[in-house]
Amino acid sequence: MEFRYHNPTRLTFGEGTFGQVGELTAPLGSRAMLVTGRSAMEKAGYLQKAKDLLEDAGMAVTVFNKIPPNPTLDAVMEGRELAQAEGCDVMVGLGGGSAMDAAKAIAVAASHDCDMREFLLPDENGEKRLPSEATLPVVAVTSTAGTSSELTPFAVISLTDTHEKPAMAGPNLFPRIAIQDPELTYTMPAHVTAATGVDVFCHAAEGYISTVATPLTAHTALKAIELVAECLPKAVAAGAHLEARRGMMLANTFAGYTLSQAGGNVMHALEHPMGGHYPDIAHGAGLAAIIVAWGEQMWERAPERFATVARIFGVEDPDDRSAAAQVGGVLKEFLTAVGMEVTLSDLGIEQEMLGTLADDALRYMLGGVRKTPGETTREDLMGLLRASY
Ligand code: NZQ
Ligand code: MN
Repeated sequence: MEFRYHNPTRLTFGEGTFGQVGELTAPLGSRAMLVTGRSAMEKAGYLQKAKDLLEDAGMAVTVFNKIPPNPTLDAVMEGRELAQAEGCDVMVGLGGGSAMDAAKAIAVAASHDCDMREFLLPDENGEKRLPSEATLPVVAVTSTAGTSSELTPFAVISLTDTHEKPAMAGPNLFPRIAIQDPELTYTMPAHVTAATGVDVFCHAAEGYISTVATPLTAHTALKAIELVAECLPKAVAAGAHLEARRGMMLANTFAGYTLSQAGGNVMHALEHPMGGHYPDIAHGAGLAAIIVAWGEQMWERAPERFATVARIFGVEDPDDRSAAAQVGGVLKEFLTAVGMEVTLSDLGIEQEMLGTLADDALRYMLGGVRKTPGETTREDLMGLLRASY
C-alpha cells in the first residue's frame, strides 16, 4: 500500500478563536485585505471586529465587502485592482466558502499577470495552470460549516459570460492559516445551516467512496458523516444549540481533511455546472437534489462502503448489499428532516438543460467524475439528473 497526505494549513479550532485573527495574520504581512460578502459578517459585527483586531496587531486594512454567493471572476478582478492599488500583501477571507474562495483567488490574481482562466479551465491536454509560490498568503476564517475552503487547495470561481463554475487548485492555494470558530456560525439561518451541512456530508461521503480514498481519508470521512447525522438536524432545528454548532464545525474539520486530499467526485461534478448556469442555487441545495439518486444508482459500485453510510443513518441490516440498497431511502429521510428534500425542478432548472449539465461535468469537472468508482458515462450522469428532476 502507498498513500500520501499533504495539508500545510495551520488550523485553530474553537469558540472564541476568531479573536486571534490579528496576531495570527500579522506575521504574514503588513497590509491586509479583508475580503467578505455583502452583508452577513457586517450585520453580525464580525467585519468591524476583524478590522479592529488586524489594526490592533499593527496592520493596515483594506475592506472589500462585495463578494456574492458563488463568487464571480468579475468580483475577483475588482478585488485584484483594489489589492494592487493599496499594496495589500496578505488576504483575509472572512465568511462562507464564497468569501474565502474569493480571497484565495484574489491572492492568485494579485500576484500573477495572466488570464485567470488559465488556472480555472483545462487546456487541450486537460491540464490547468497551477498558482505559483508568488500567491499571496491567505488567512481563512469560516462562518459556515461548510465548504472547508479554509482547509483545501481549491477556490471555486464562476464565469458569468460562459456560465461555468470551475475551481482553481494547487498546493499554493492552501490557506496559511484557518480559523474554525463555531461562534461565527451561530447567526446562520436554518436554510443556510442546512445547505452548508449537506455540503459537509457530500465532501465526506464522496471522499469515502472515492477511488483515491486512503485509510486516513476513510477515517476522517466516517467521523464527519457520523457528526453530520447526529448534529445537523439539531443545528437546523435550534440555531442556538451550541453543542450541535460545535459538532457541525468539527464535522467540517474532518470533511475538510477528507476533501483536501480526495477532492469531490460525481455529485460535485454535477453541482458545479448547476451553479454555473443558475448562480442563485446555493451549492448545498444543488448537491441535496442529487443525493438520493446518487445513493440509489451508485451503491452497487461500492456496496460495503455504501452499507457503512446507510448504517450511520440507521439501517440495521447485517447484509452489506441489502443495507447498501437502502442508502437512498435513509438519505431521503435525513434530507426531509433537515428541510433539504428538493428536486432539480424545485431549484428552477429547466429540463432541456440536463444534457448541458452532463456535458459541462464531463468537460471541466472530469477529474471529479473520474474519481467516482466504476466507469461513469454521460448516460450515467443523465440517469442521476433525470431521477433528481
Ligand atoms: O453573502 P453574505 O453576506 O456573505 O452572506 C452569506 C450568503 O448569503 C450567508 N452567510 C454566511 N455565513 C453566515 C451567513 N449568514 C449568517 N450568518 C453566517 N455566519 O450565507 C449565504 C451563503 O454563503 P456562501 O459563502 O455562499 O456559502 P458556502 O459557505 O456554502 O460557500 C459556497 C461557495 O463555496 C464553494 C461553492 O461552490 C460556493 O461557491 N465551494 C468551495 C470549496 C473549496 N474552496 O474547497 C469546496 C466546496 O465544495 C464548494 O464548491
Ligand atoms: Mn462542496
